[in-house]
Amino acid sequence: MESVSIARQWAAPAQLLNAEAMPTYPTLNTPVEKTSTAHISNLLNEHGIVLLRGHQYPVGELESLTQRMFSRFHVPANRASLRRQDGDGFSSMVRKDNRLLDHSEGYYRPCLPRPDVCIFVCEKAPTAKGGETFLINGAELYRALPADLAFRLETEGIIYESLWPRERWQEEFGVDGVVELKSLLDGDKDCEYTLNSEDELHLFFKTDAIRTGSQSEKRFINGMLAHLPKVDHWRYASVPISSKPTNRMHWGRGGLIENEDICRIIDAHDAVLHKHRWQDGDILMLDNHRVLHGREVLEAPSDRIIYGRFGFWN
Ligand SMILES: [Fe+2]
Repeated sequence: MESVSIARQWAAPAQLLNAEAMPTYPTLNTPVEKTSTAHISNLLNEHGIVLLRGHQYPVGELESLTQRMFSRFHVPANRASLRRQDGDGFSSMVRKDNRLLDHSEGYYRPCLPRPDVCIFVCEKAPTAKGGETFLINGAELYRALPADLAFRLETEGIIYESLWPRERWQEEFGVDGVVELKSLLDGDKDCEYTLNSEDELHLFFKTDAIRTGSQSEKRFINGMLAHLPKVDHWRYASVPISSKPTNRMHWGRGGLIENEDICRIIDAHDAVLHKHRWQDGDILMLDNHRVLHGREVLEAPSDRIIYGRFGFWN
């Protein structure tokens, strides 16, 4: 028999800020071999998130479980060098060195589908403070936004600006040469780009920031907070936060998104943030189109072995 406990699904923001809080999503405690993949998929579809806890699975077993659930996988381009050497090659290690604001996986990139489900597996939970995985329900974040920002994000959309050397765009798009790249990008009307003499790609990609789910529920689902050139927020002046100086975020109708507005989005982000405190063996699955994820910085050196897999439904 499978057992499942479902605590309150998403608690009030004040409670969610407690990193030690009990998981607020469905938790399965049965061994993988006794757990039906259909049951996991149903929980995921219903709640947008599911936690398998209490067992430590070898990589092969976990990979075979997810291979039964998903038709294919992808490894994010910036994690290609972190691929696990064992297993099927679609598992990659998660970094642990800085705070990463919440995002949906793969949303910054045109032309290719975004993974449907993020799977994070904890081989070794950190013993030091910090190192939690951030989780945010995209609908809650939408509701937490100031009304003017929510309206503008919804009506204008956003533009991701990226500057990628040849190796990066080869990894991002799985192409070898410029002809292949141009043919891909030219087929997307939401893309504008230039290529310089060194084949460096300067890319502008316009897309939605707010998505409408079932029952007309609006969700903040995008990758903008992980695509900033820097994070300049008074609360994080001394915290290392993941950013990239050549990235930019623009409003969909043009104009940089000002730091003041970024800070207001970060405030909403922090108000609805849940920190998942890892236990050895945890497997966390997230619907990438409903739940955003990020990472807390470790407060002291500590082992933190977590790897990710990104699956597509059939
Ligand atoms: Fe991610």
